[in-house]
Amino acid sequence: MRIGVLKETAARERRVALTPDAVVRLIKGGDTVAIESGAGLSAFHADADYIAAGATIVPAMDAADVVVTVRRPDPADAARVPEGTVLVTLIGPDGRDALEALARRRVTVLALEKVPRITRAQSMDILSSQATVAGYQAVLLGAGVMPRFLPMLTTAAGSITPGKVLVLGAGVAGLQAIATARRLGGVVTGFDVRAAAAEQVLSLGAKFLAPEAVAGDAETKGGYAKELAEEQQLKVLEAVGGAIVQSDLVISTAAIPGRPAPRLITRAMVESMKAGSVIVDVSAETGGNCELTKPGETVVHGGVTILGPLNLPSTMPMHASQMFSRNVQTLVEHLRHEGAVRIDLEDEITGAMCVAHEGAVRQQGAS
Ligand code: NAI
Repeated sequence: MRIGVLKETAARERRVALTPDAVVRLIKGGDTVAIESGAGLSAFHADADYIAAGATIVPAMDAADVVVTVRRPDPADAARVPEGTVLVTLIGPDGRDALEALARRRVTVLALEKVPRITRAQSMDILSSQATVAGYQAVLLGAGVMPRFLPMLTTAAGSITPGKVLVLGAGVAGLQAIATARRLGGVVTGFDVRAAAAEQVLSLGAKFLAPEAVAGDAETKGGYAKELAEEQQLKVLEAVGGAIVQSDLVISTAAIPGRPAPRLITRAMVESMKAGSVIVDVSAETGGNCELTKPGETVVHGGVTILGPLNLPSTMPMHASQMFSRNVQTLVEHLRHEGAVRIDLEDEITGAMCVAHEGAVRQQGAS
């Protein structure tokens, strides 16, 4: 197969969809790889690294069987994807116009957000790999803004008590945030509405907040959270409100697929926190878990700093790209049949991911 890698054009996007080590593996499997010049630069991979890996450098993608990119092109940029090719990309919210523009070029689009959460597809699961980066970066970001240490210290200049960290949402990002905050010496409490998360939080050496607020039916068959009934939501807010007063750093990662982020931190809760405390709202992109979050901005309210970072994985482009690239490589190999690309809509993975095929948009763009 001829694989093409696009250079990212979206603002703040520093990742690249394939790194040189993945190029080596694909070429070993019989593929050829063409990279748009400079595609890897912001992830610290020069054109020369790709040439050394066996790829060719092109000024623009003119012919390919499979084109890979981190973020989909804008509708006006659809012509950057050769007609009739297979495009593997994140679609993001509001992708409908772009999908239609791509479908008009008879591009088959596989949305990376839609990799099914089944064992067979775990190595292609970009949401998980990038959430790992987001959870880690969120803690470092918060620690960098905090006016105090996270670890306990005993020094000649006195003793420092450890910082208290509250992590809301214990999915992939939340669990990584808990592990990272623990490594930095914080005293960590985690919370999630899924009962299964409690054990995972405890296994990382953190406390689990308010098991009584967790209902057995807050989890879907796919392992995701459901929106809560009003009564349970009140219990959750009560538990979070009680814990947040004591917290020096709050990392909030709670999310419900395809829905706005659940509101867990009210203005009154922020006002109850100590001056100097920090909230990092990892869910800012879907509206935020905190009522005062402004996506992409830093808000200071009554001495509490609220960060609403966007595209956290891109802030650590080297390892985020390495993991993204490994996911993409596995997916591309999955599409390879006897040396050619095959789109089998009956296949559990390809079928679930395919959002445009044979000139038509198949389902609503992933959000
Ligand atoms: P996510 O990014 O959709 O949500 C983050 C977390 O927020 C989830 O744990 C969710 O339960 C929690 N949440 C939602 N509403 C909440 C509320 N009101 N209060 C507190 N927490 C709330 O989740 P993510 O990280 O994608 O993981 C979801 C599930 O999928 C987990 O069970 C995870 O283990 C599972 N998973 C399975 C995979 C596989 O089988 N291949 C791969 C990755 C994750």
